[in-house]
Amino acid sequence: MLNRRKVPAYRPDIYSTKAILDPYPHYARLRELGPVVWLTRQRVYALPRYAECKAALRDDTTFVSGHGVALNAVTNRLSRGTTLNSDGEDHDKRRKLVAHRLTPKALRAMSDAVTNQAEQVVAAAVAKRTVDGVSDLASALPLAIVPDFVGWPREGRDHLLTWAGATFDFLGPANKRSIRAFPASLQMLRFARQVVRERSALDRSMGHDVLAAVDNGTLKRSEVPPLMVDYLAPSLDTTISAIASGLHLFATHPDQWQAIRNDPSLIPNAVNEVVRIESPLRAFSRRTTRDVDIAGTTIPKGARVLVMYASANRDELQWTDPDTFDVHRDATGQLGFGIGAHTCAGQGLARMETQAILTALAKQVDTIRCTAPPTWGLNNIIHCFERLPLELIPAGKE
Ligand code: HEM
Repeated sequence: MLNRRKVPAYRPDIYSTKAILDPYPHYARLRELGPVVWLTRQRVYALPRYAECKAALRDDTTFVSGHGVALNAVTNRLSRGTTLNSDGEDHDKRRKLVAHRLTPKALRAMSDAVTNQAEQVVAAAVAKRTVDGVSDLASALPLAIVPDFVGWPREGRDHLLTWAGATFDFLGPANKRSIRAFPASLQMLRFARQVVRERSALDRSMGHDVLAAVDNGTLKRSEVPPLMVDYLAPSLDTTISAIASGLHLFATHPDQWQAIRNDPSLIPNAVNEVVRIESPLRAFSRRTTRDVDIAGTTIPKGARVLVMYASANRDELQWTDPDTFDVHRDATGQLGFGIGAHTCAGQGLARMETQAILTALAKQVDTIRCTAPPTWGLNNIIHCFERLPLELIPAGKE
């Protein structure tokens, strides 16, 4: 109860369907209320501003992940054993197991394959001319790259997007959406257990490395399935979100599209700007290990704190004109990939995929046009279009 009365409270449910479809006005009101806001519905302390989010993410001994990063106790219990949901040495051990696969050197070795695949995906979409930006472009590349990288057997791929989406939904509060997602999320874990039992992870994949760690005694067999889900689940919808949001932003900001076509060296920063302005992950939580002062507010030990990446990335105290999409701004400080010990382990790959699609499009497409209003998907955590009807006008053919 420490200090609760001094903390401004926010009653609207930021996980309601309406708020999920249009979150930014809620985030703006939360930031206006202060650096720490009590969310009445979820009974957690929210950090809607940039400075406090960044500080909390960097202080991983006070704001821990080992008790889970979800807003419901069931997920927090079930996700024990994942990289996301561990601290200290335990966390370091898990991250190191596959870190060699995601180093800049390892990623450079994948670069040609990703570029070729992106060019094929874009060429097929350009040939169709009218496309769904989500299924024809944004999903096609991650689905062609990531399951092989993780080593997920080919026969288990039909449900991947449903399972991965459900796994994110299930990291939200205990609302109807996360309860409905529970069976699909569990199926993903069950399938991962089957992969471990049958040792069916693809050869030379990340899954294969993790199984080898069981053989040499570094890891217990029971720890492998959560680890596989740990890498597969966050690697699809997140990147799909970034690519789809990029397509929509460039379709609705033709001057920005011409800017990157004229100067493709802007593309890496454009990816940061897309992830800043339409952050694929709304928020994750932490638990405090002690009473902690945040900008004059004491948050008690054992409290749940919501770190709002998507709100921090639109904080007017941090960014000039935060609601403006501008590929020329320095967006490197965006928090969409997190920061600190748990910073996204796969961001190099996600950046490579998103850049490869934008580079291939910039070469092949003169104009991207929205042909109908897009629809947003409904998910507690992932902010992603469900449908994005587009026309791609090939270079030199308008
Ligand atoms: C645009 C795409 C992506 C975004 C925006 C994104 C975002 C994030 C964020 C915000 C976190 C931090 C979680 C925290 O603070 O607790 C994270 C962690 C993580 N991400 Fe990503 N991610 C993306 C793509 C990927 C990909 C492609 C992979 C796998 C190849 C991946 C694997 C992971 C893993 C394993 C963690 C947990 C790291 C840890 O706890 O140490 N992500 N991601």
